Amino acid sequence: MDVDAKKRQVARAALELVPEGATLGIGTGSTVNLFIEALAEHPGRIRNAVSSSEASSARLRTIGIPVLELNDLPGLDLYIDGADEANPARQLIKGGGAALTREKIIAAAARRFVCIVDETKLVATLGKFPLPVEVIPMARELVARDLARRGGRPVWRAGCVTDNGNHILDVHDLRITDPVGLEAAINQVVGVVTVGLFAARPADVLLVGTSNGVQTR
Ligand code: A5P
Repeated sequence: MDVDAKKRQVARAALELVPEGATLGIGTGSTVNLFIEALAEHPGRIRNAVSSSEASSARLRTIGIPVLELNDLPGLDLYIDGADEANPARQLIKGGGAALTREKIIAAAARRFVCIVDETKLVATLGKFPLPVEVIPMARELVARDLARRGGRPVWRAGCVTDNGNHILDVHDLRITDPVGLEAAINQVVGVVTVGLFAARPADVLLVGTSNGVQTR
């Protein structure tokens, strides 16, 4: 079974966890796109959604799902999103699609976060996937020097401007043995908007698409 088929089966499995009429937080990426495709086959299944990117919002509107502002809601029942890496504690690296800040906001607002990945995303220790950090553009090099002092190799994702108008540094060569500590430390660096480590608030459920079917962790 190829990676796309694993993503498709995990996207479909996530649909079973969605309560009828829910207000859903929806993330960004190819796995989430397959989840949105699955939603399209079940009109009326969700009432409305908050999305982590303009790209996902456009897809949701195309299938007739109203996209709301988070500020107009008391909270979210459930958040469904992919990830770039996941460890056994369900801590994640996210932001490969540059939507990490809105994703972290939605994760904070949601009572339950279900993360959908294929098995290639599973790692023992986070850091093989370069860690995305969203930065205020004028602070890009200031933040890059700080990240280099911490042992990382930050690379500017040239040409990428986030939906919030910011830049992304992808930090290579990290072996993240203390995800909660590193998340807190990078968030404190002046000029950082968000680090793509989801450790203090990990996923509540990790659905993994494998050659042997969908596993729940
Ligand atoms: C978006 O910024 C990311 O956090 C995505 O959740 C992540 O890149 C997963 O994308 P795929 O589902 O395309 O692998």
